[in-house]
Amino acid sequence: MSLNSTNPYKMNLKYVSYMSNQAQILKEDDIEKLLFQIREKNKRLAITGLLLLIQGKFIQYIEGPEDEIEKVYKKIKTDPRHNQLILLDSGEVNTRQFKDWSMAYKKIEDEVVEKITGYKNLELDDLFQNPYKEGKHPVLKVLYNFTKALAS
Ligand SMILES: Cc1cc2nc3c(=O)[nH]c(=O)nc-3n(C[C@H](O)[C@H](O)[C@H](O)COP(=O)(O)O)c2cc1C
Repeated sequence: MSLNSTNPYKMNLKYVSYMSNQAQILKEDDIEKLLFQIREKNKRLAITGLLLLIQGKFIQYIEGPEDEIEKVYKKIKTDPRHNQLILLDSGEVNTRQFKDWSMAYKKIEDEVVEKITGYKNLELDDLFQNPYKEGKHPVLKVLYNFTKALAS
């Protein structure tokens, strides 16, 4: 058996990026609690990633063993803390972007969004209604910009 099949930080990795609408606007305190819960579980399952709060929406990137990512993404989709959710991107990765982060978190201000994308308002609500080409929406530019900046 190769080392790759036994080490969850090295085996076949999958990633999922999605955006969700908060069912109720979470206070900083609630987000801290959520992060505590997420990080505990992700450590157990060898899941790593990044959670951003952009213009009131959660944008999350999770990476880890394929089975675990699928199970956790299923849980996330039915979490009552958000009421709308759309898949933005998914696929396989060879190496982790966030090997040292069970879940990094950052709230992104509008000026930063504008700097990265050129748009002041990403009109994220429209995304829930209007389909677009997977992997192409400007909000992903923000996500992957921070992925690069924070990657470990
Ligand atoms: C915005 C958001 C992001 C989340 N991210 C994760 C995550 O990365 N990993 C995870 O295990 N649960 C995450 N959760 C929590 C799951 O939806 C769910 O509550 C949790 O996995 C339940 O675990 P349990 O059934 O094993 O107790 C997230 C929830 C929200 C609202």
